Amino acid sequence: MLELAIRAAREAGAILQDYAARGFQIEHKGRINLVTEADLASERHIKGLIASHYPNHRILAEESGVSDHSSDEYCWIIDPLDGTTNFSHAFPCYAVSIGVEYKGRSVVGVILDPTRDELFAAELGAGATCNGQRIRVSDVERLEKSLLVSGFPYDVRERMNEYLPAWREFLRHAQGVRRFGAAAIDMAYVAMGRLEGFWEYGLNAWDTAAGWIIIEEAGGRVTQLDGSPFDNHTPSLLCTNGRVHDEMLAVLREIDCEGGTADLHGCD
Ligand code: IPD
Ligand code: CA
Ligand code: CA
Repeated sequence: MLELAIRAAREAGAILQDYAARGFQIEHKGRINLVTEADLASERHIKGLIASHYPNHRILAEESGVSDHSSDEYCWIIDPLDGTTNFSHAFPCYAVSIGVEYKGRSVVGVILDPTRDELFAAELGAGATCNGQRIRVSDVERLEKSLLVSGFPYDVRERMNEYLPAWREFLRHAQGVRRFGAAAIDMAYVAMGRLEGFWEYGLNAWDTAAGWIIIEEAGGRVTQLDGSPFDNHTPSLLCTNGRVHDEMLAVLREIDCEGGTADLHGCD
């Protein structure tokens, strides 16, 4: 499955780069939520490959939803183009993300950044790699020495007051905070040790399925924003190098208890 995920990501990455070079149609799924011809072509290609090798496995893909013809316990979870807004502006930060979930947890993950030709991969119990070399999370111990990243879901205009307090507090407590616009890249960079932590409130399974296993296999920690166990179908994500996780949870808890965000913690 890992080999097929790598092949699928590479071929899909070539499709994306082809569209990037020759232009593409853009449509709106929502006010700021875009889909391009490249998303659709990438997804079609990945799904075709998986179906021809594993006809009984389920597939959940961002643009076409869940396949309904199988009850197999394996589910491939695909974001054919993570960072569509970046892609549509020729901003070179986007990825293909392919995860395989088995009995509710990710067991294989591949994230390809075709602009830098960086392929992040992991398999349960076998470690994480970037372009075949083992990767580890960073050994930074303190939040004040940490570079963090976050993102905004597409309902940012409606829920801005819930999203901004965490930004304010992490800007205050960390060394820096970035926003790249591609959740899969954010997670790969935590696994690689380029960033210490990533939080976001409104993610989908296709954003996280590959990153989850890659971070854990690189020695990091993944939970929900209140510290409870993560799974791909919960929208709330905190992932870190492990060392700054509790400090980040404490900041989030503080915000929540001041009434700044959605009820993440059940404050006293
Ligand atoms: C989005 C990106 C973005 C994140 C959004 C995602 P898409 O994915 O990962 O960084 O903030 O929550 O929906 O739509 O470009 O695949
Ligand atoms: Ca995405
Ligand atoms: Ca996408």
